[in-house]
Amino acid sequence: MKDFHELLVERRSIRRYTPEPISAEDVKLILEAGLLAPTSKSSRSWHFIAVDDRQMLERLAGCKPSGAAPIERCALAIVVTADPTMTDPWIEDASIAAAYMQLQAADLGLGSCWIQVRGRFTADNIPSEEYVQELLGIPETIPVLCVMTFGHKDEVRKAVDTSKLLWEKVHVGTWNGVE
Ligand SMILES: Cc1cc2nc3c(=O)[nH]c(=O)nc-3n(C[C@H](O)[C@H](O)[C@H](O)COP(=O)(O)O)c2cc1C
Repeated sequence: MKDFHELLVERRSIRRYTPEPISAEDVKLILEAGLLAPTSKSSRSWHFIAVDDRQMLERLAGCKPSGAAPIERCALAIVVTADPTMTDPWIEDASIAAAYMQLQAADLGLGSCWIQVRGRFTADNIPSEEYVQELLGIPETIPVLCVMTFGHKDEVRKAVDTSKLLWEKVHVGTWNGVE
């Protein structure tokens, strides 16, 4: 385990991957990170669909016309969904799980990227969520938040320059900082 702060500074979205598969142990650790994520009232409303079949990954990449190319290049995609009948903050539950999986992958030295599905449309103007549901047999009552892509990195990205962090976004005490 790296120093946690260093991991946060060095994690960048990786959109190019080598063809090397991810080991079964690492796939398990990534999924376990999702299952360990906190949820509202411990509802554990999420469902994760792990996909590594090349043809399926190529078809999944058709979920939207731009910003989805990493899906066809990755070794593993985890489709993050949740059951809104279990809890109203299902988006938060699913988002935290996705972020946990991304951080676990970073700790394993793997690259990852969040591909937004919710609220997006295919090139034929079909909701991306419906496209992914149909492709993977996900019930229509289970919305799709995103596809997380994972793989061995095939690009080098600079760590975040912490001197450029937006500290002006932090408000102390009140919005104006006046007590
Ligand atoms: C909610 C959300 C949606 C995103 N959607 C996409 C996407 O559809 N395609 C993509 O390539 N990257 C996507 N990203 C990755 C962001 O572009 C990336 O996190 C951002 O540019 C900051 O870069 P970094 O992750 O390297 O720090 C998404 C990230 C988040 C958090």
